[in-house]
Amino acid sequence: MLKEIHEQPDALRSTIMPRINNENLPDFTMDHIPNHIFKSINRVVITACGTAMHAGMVGRVMIERLLRIPVAVEIASEFRYQDPVLDENTLVITISQSGETADTLAALRLAKENNATVLSIVNVKGSSIARESDYVLYTQAGPEIAVASTKAYTAQLSCLYLIAYQFALTRGLLSVKECGDRILKFQKVIQAVEEVLSFDRYMDKIGMDLAKTEDLFFIGRGLDYALSCEGSIKLKEISYIHSEAYAAGELKHGTLSLIVEDTPVVALATQQKVFSKMISNVREVRARGAKVILITNGNPTVDQSIYDYHIALPQLEDELVVFSAAVILQLLAYYTSLYRGLNIDQPRNLAKSVTVE
Ligand code: G6P
Repeated sequence: MLKEIHEQPDALRSTIMPRINNENLPDFTMDHIPNHIFKSINRVVITACGTAMHAGMVGRVMIERLLRIPVAVEIASEFRYQDPVLDENTLVITISQSGETADTLAALRLAKENNATVLSIVNVKGSSIARESDYVLYTQAGPEIAVASTKAYTAQLSCLYLIAYQFALTRGLLSVKECGDRILKFQKVIQAVEEVLSFDRYMDKIGMDLAKTEDLFFIGRGLDYALSCEGSIKLKEISYIHSEAYAAGELKHGTLSLIVEDTPVVALATQQKVFSKMISNVREVRARGAKVILITNGNPTVDQSIYDYHIALPQLEDELVVFSAAVILQLLAYYTSLYRGLNIDQPRNLAKSVTVE
């Protein structure tokens, strides 16, 4: 897992760079994805399982923000039995590292039966999901062996960002200049991921501290909430610590009663728009004695008394910081599990690819 975490700059470079043309615009020519599929649809449904579904949650925020069309994210095992509303104007995006997850494949088949266009983001070439989709955008993450998905996740995110930019360009919601500017900024995520890999030692220290805990919470708003869900699953998969992700605004609707002296809370506060709200939430948990691990975009001035650990990510546009933040959460899970002496690459009861229901 640690090796795959460290392969992320390369995985991102290989996924992103061949899909940017000389004018700094997204280009899916090599994937044979025609622009017309982005023109005719009025709704997007993203469906996947596990970590891939969490990538979809980030994709939803990005696509809705840029496109102003409704995007739903559905857990594939729910979607397939819900009699979903689908038609020829729906774009269904399925996301899968293995391309073999039974529920995601069934969701894809259902989408096709209902005449939706299916675009899949897949890592394994020639896999069932890749073969049955109308269009495929391959993540170029290389083989991912550890059960907990790392480099496939950030590569999936990068595909979703490229789709959002291409979609917005095609529909005239971004001008050529605006799109080019965004793509230039977008490429900086690779360097940011490289930079945070050197935070290893600090994450090791936090992991050693967290290894003693039995319950842990992740809180965030917007993109940070989507990321909290991923941080939480990563940690519980490999460390067996009970953890939950909460939209920070929901704290007062129940979760706060679970926060007692020394309960660790990972607070993601990378989004400027809701930064002060997040800091208020951190104060709320801190007042109940929480051990706070605060993650911010850059190094904003924050009262030091509200956290135990502070991770200041390389400053980027708010919408781009998920990439480096994801890597930090992976390292957090990795080191916590390491200090619990567990089999990190093959956690109990879990499989890399779930090909049966
Ligand atoms: C399993 C794996 C997860 C993965 C999920 C979906 O649960 O352990 O890491 O996110 O399946 O897999 P997929 O191959 O469809 O991305």
